[in-house]
Order: sequence, then structure tokens, then C-alpha cells
Amino acid sequence: MKNPVLLLLLSIVLPVSMAVSQTIENVAPGVWKIVFGVPEKYLPTDFKETPLNTTKTLAAVDKPPFNLKDIQFRKAAGGVIAALPVDTSEQFYGFGLQTNSFQQRGKRREIRISSWVSGNLGFGHASMPFYISSKGYGVLVNTARNTVFYMASKGKLDTTSARPIAGDSQHIALTTVDLYGKQHSLSNEVSITVNGTEGMELYIFGGPGMLAVMQRYNFFSGGGALPPLWGLGFKYRAKATFNEKQVLETANYFRDNKIPCDMLGLEPGWQTHSYSCSFVWNKNNFPDPDAFISKINEKGFKLNLWEHAYTHPSSPLFDSIAKYSCDYTVWTGAVPDFITAGAQRIFGNYHETQFVKKGISAFKLDESDAADYLVADMEWSFPDIARFPSGIDGIQMRQLFGSLYNKTMIDLYHKNNKRTWFDVRSSYLFAAPYPAVLYSDMYSHADFVRMTVNSGFAGVNWSPELRETSNEADLIRRLQTITLSAQMVVNGWYLDLPPWLQYDVKKNEKRELLPNHKQLEERARKLINLRMSLLPYLYAAFARYYFEGIPPVRALILDYPNDANVAAIDDQYMLGESILCAPFIDSASTRRVYLPKGIWYDFNTNKKYEGGRSYTISMSLDELPVFIKDNTILPLANPEQFITSQTVLNLTCNIYGTPTQALQLFEDDHFNNDYKQGVYNWVQLSWNGRKGTVTRKGNYKGRLYTIKKWQVVGS
Ligand code: GAL
Repeated sequence: MKNPVLLLLLSIVLPVSMAVSQTIENVAPGVWKIVFGVPEKYLPTDFKETPLNTTKTLAAVDKPPFNLKDIQFRKAAGGVIAALPVDTSEQFYGFGLQTNSFQQRGKRREIRISSWVSGNLGFGHASMPFYISSKGYGVLVNTARNTVFYMASKGKLDTTSARPIAGDSQHIALTTVDLYGKQHSLSNEVSITVNGTEGMELYIFGGPGMLAVMQRYNFFSGGGALPPLWGLGFKYRAKATFNEKQVLETANYFRDNKIPCDMLGLEPGWQTHSYSCSFVWNKNNFPDPDAFISKINEKGFKLNLWEHAYTHPSSPLFDSIAKYSCDYTVWTGAVPDFITAGAQRIFGNYHETQFVKKGISAFKLDESDAADYLVADMEWSFPDIARFPSGIDGIQMRQLFGSLYNKTMIDLYHKNNKRTWFDVRSSYLFAAPYPAVLYSDMYSHADFVRMTVNSGFAGVNWSPELRETSNEADLIRRLQTITLSAQMVVNGWYLDLPPWLQYDVKKNEKRELLPNHKQLEERARKLINLRMSLLPYLYAAFARYYFEGIPPVRALILDYPNDANVAAIDDQYMLGESILCAPFIDSASTRRVYLPKGIWYDFNTNKKYEGGRSYTISMSLDELPVFIKDNTILPLANPEQFITSQTVLNLTCNIYGTPTQALQLFEDDHFNNDYKQGVYNWVQLSWNGRKGTVTRKGNYKGRLYTIKKWQVVGS
């Protein structure tokens, strides 16, 4: 903790035998910790990174966002309950990477890491006990136990108010939807139950405003992760059964057809055993792994290997990892306890020498979330009753497992001063510093977009991948959505050919090309090129995530907190500083788009829109549902096929309106982590109404950008 200041110590006055201690401490600028009773041995904060200093970015706040003494704690059978008074006008967001809900008032939220949502209870790949209020504060429960929130959804008995008068014209419901479909009792209380504890720790994040709450949370977590520049390019994951020859053919397809591709992912077939994992190259498919890695790297791809942590008895790791594993298996594999130094060392050393040092650029860490709770014989994860050598139990480990695994593996790259960019299937609190994106087997396009919107409340990156589709429009609309997200990935793990050549799985397997595959391929190429053009802009957005804590992808409500019209918008989002995305979902080509106050420009036509109202927008499949904010300098790079350490991007700066503020681009050695030691430049682009100027500030000697052209495109 940089500047921990002890504010006050409270002792609740209770009969001596029942006294439960309660303390309030200001632990970081604008962050307060409340401890009630005796929390347990393992808390999520035990595993988090050191907070970053917020003082340069955020105004100091000297008092909590509300009176923290108004929070009532009590012990109950089997757990601890906290009750927080709230306003009837307050709205709530967050709970991690929620899938099928956005506004959280009036709901019960159950926090469980799970690969399937199982209704709309609150479960998910990165379900978290952390919500944000529209009044500009955040509440985080520092626990890995099952936690239940009632978000002002349960009214309490009140005998003091005037009693209502019942009339004789009451509404009698005749359907169960009418009968049960509404929230019955209004409430001005949020209640939180942590099951199985003797104490509770809350962290309260101040603002002012919701965006500042998120900035404080991200700083407190250790700062938002900066991906390597190549991580923002295009990723393709090849079919799980492909051998070396087939993977190389896939790689050549991209290069021969001039479709940019930076990252190639191998799926389970690279290993001798994959469910559970041996972590050993399958020599039938890859006879000479070192030579294969070199060939792929020489073509400019960064290789990513799929795995999960459950270690198969045939693995060279098995005997040594077994003693640091829990007492149950998953797919007959040992489950490493990544809290123990032994598991970290054994698992880490093996991966470092066998893969990191041999040129593997990243991993996809799969299956770290518990499986379906609703289908009793599909629960493949370790059980709640599992015991781990560190002393943590199965319930807590199910929440933390993904995060601990991610951290163990990502640390190997940090140690080697290499930038990386992982795919991970689960995450938990304080994950902002992990250079990783979450993904899912779920596939609703609308949910994928909502997750994109929600990711900004969670300190995680979300990647709405493309796999197969049912028709051409759906293919293109999904491609557009992945172009406009934290990671652009096509997951072809069960496809022989990229989906734009054949989106039907059965025909894809027979390598039957679509009649218009060339046209679809051209559309895919255009979108991937556009993604490559956006790299400088996206990289700057991620640099702000690190330096200022501002989520690169976020709900409109974070940028426009005073605009009541955006409070419920879960299908539009901000990408970086000045791009508003409004994806067309389920093949649609027409939708309502709300533009906040101010002027906006259609990215495709430069048509000007007056904000503060909604429009019905129609766009062809060649047009991207993107609007640019007035007074923006938008740099677009000439698209490269892939990024190398020598890459210099040639930029055209597009001017919308009359920007008076300089745009700051981030420039550094984008393959290592020297930026953390201060080695970088801010490249300032300014426009004076007639011409543009470029100023560099910083001590990085290399050059990543050359500014070639300035042009006014929207005025
Ligand atoms: C799933 C994962 C997919 C793919 C598959 C391979 O769990 O979500 O993306 O990697 O495993 O078996």
C-alpha cells in the first residue's frame, strides 16, 4: 500500500460476549476497507498485484462516498450479512463479466465462476462480488466464498408508515407471467451474504462518478494490462486435430492471400494427451516441434498453445505436481494448487523451459471455470468438497482457480521481460493487470455484445470470438463485432477452413467452398485490414488503461453518466476515446442507435448526426456500425500483414470537426515491458484548423509511427 492512512477504528458496542470488531481504514486514495469480524485465511487481495499510484490522474477525495457507518453487519447461521442503505433512484452495474444482464437493480446476484450462465443468476466466466452504483461508488466483497446479493429487490416489513387503503378494483392476474413477472416489493437496501465465514471484508471505491470508480479499482488492482502491439492484431485458432503440415498450410493461406494475421493458436491436438493434459508435443503430428516453432515464427506469427492445468498421469509433471494437488481429479488429472510455491515452481519451470524460452508467445488457458451446475452429470470440475494442500477448500478454489493459473503462467513472461497476450476461460477480482482476454463456448451474439459492454465494469478484456455461422449476414456482422473488440479472434478449433470460405460446419469439414467464398474472403480481408489500421488508436486506448485506469472498452454510461438515455444501453459501447460502436446483431441491417449529446460522424459515409437522440440506422454488410465523436483526430495506419519489432506504421490522420486537444499515441518497444521502467514516448498529434503537428515526449529511442498525411473527413 503506498499511503495507507488509518482513518478510524470503530468498536461496536454490544454485550461483551457478542462483541464483533469492526474497523474502517482508508487503504488507498479514494478506497476504504471495512473489516467485520474475522475474515478467513485466504482472501482475493492476497493474490493481487501492488496498486499503482493514482495521484497524478485522479483528484484526491478526503471522505468516503457515503457514511460507511451506515452499513449494518450481522452474523447469521453459516455466514455474515451486510446491509447497505440505497436510494430508490440508484441503479447498479457490474458483478464482473455478466452475460445476460446489465442493470442489476431488483435482482438477486449469486457470484459463481461457471462456464455456463445457468439462467440469469449471476454466474459466469468472471462473475465477481463487485458492483458500481450510479451514485458514483463501488462495493467489493473481498471473498472467494459463495456470495449472494439482493440488489434492492426485497422490501422489508414497515409498520411505521401510513397504511395504504385497499380498494375494490384490484387487478387480478390470469396468467403466471402477469402474476409473478414483476418485482413485488420495492426496497431501499442492498444486502450481501457471504456463506461459510466468520467475518467479511468490504472495499468501498469512491469517485467522483462511475468512471473514476473504475479507474480507482483498476489502479488498486495494479493497473490495466498493456498488450503487445501484435496482441491487438488478428488471431486465428487452427483445427484441434491439425498436424504440422496442416497448420503450416493454414499459416500460408493467410500470407498467400494477403490477409493479415499475427497470432496462430494450436488447439488440443498438439499434445500426446489433452483431457487431461500431458504438456508434451505429440510427435505424430509435430515430429520436430523446435523446427516447427521456428518456421511459424519466421513467417511472422506468434504461436499460442492451448492447454488446461489438469495434469494427466502420463505427463512428466505428474509425479512432482501430485503432492501439490487437491485430493480429487479432473478428467483423471491432478489439479495443481497454484497457491503453493511448489505447484507454481514445478508447473512454472516446466512451461518456462519447454515453451516460453523456446519461442511460444502465449497460451490459451482453458477449462479453469467450473462446469454446468444444472446438469448433474456434466460437472467435470473438482468438487466443492475438494481439499487443497494450501488449506483452501474447493468452494473458494473454484472462484480463484482461473486467476491463480493465469497469474502463474503470465508471470513466466514477465520474468523473461516478454510481453504476452493470453486467452483465459475464467478470471476473478483484481485481474486488470493480466494481459489476457476471456472467451466462451456460449455463442449468442447479443450476449457477446453485452459482455463487451460489461467488461468495462470488471477490469477484464472480453473477446467475442467468431466460429461457424448460419448465414452470410450473420458471418459479416459477427466479423464486424470481433473487429471492434479487445481481441479479434476466429476460433476455428473444429473448422478445416476459415468460416468465410464455408460457414456450415459439415460442408467445412468436406472442404466444400461457398459459391461466393471469394467475395466473403474479400470482406473478411477488409475488416482485418481495418483492424490493423486501428492499431495505433487501440494501443493508445490500452496505454490509457495502464496509465489512467480508463477501460478501453466500456458502457456509454461511464462516459455519459448524466444522460438518462444511456442508463440501460447494453448494445452500444465506447471503444477507446472517441469511437462509438453499435453492432448489428443476428443478421440485422437496421437498428436503433442512440447518440449522446454532441455531433457524431458515420465512419462509413462521414454523414453528420446531431446527438442527444436516437436514429434508425440502416447499413449494408460493407458498412461498419461505428460513429466518431466530434473533434476527433483518428489515426489510421496502412495495414501491415503482421507486427515485428521493426514495424513502423505509416499513419493518415483523419480530422472530424475542429479538434483543439492533441491526440496522444503511445510508442515503445512493444515486445518487452520496459515501459514499466518509464521507457516510452507519447506522440502528440495536434491540429490547428489547417495543418497538423507532431511532437514526441519521452525517452524511447525507436520509432513506431510515421505521420504521412492529414485530412479533414468530417466537418
Ligand atoms: C473448449 C474451448 C474451445 C476449444 C475446445 C477444445 O473448452 O472453449 O475454444 O479450445 O475447448 O477442446
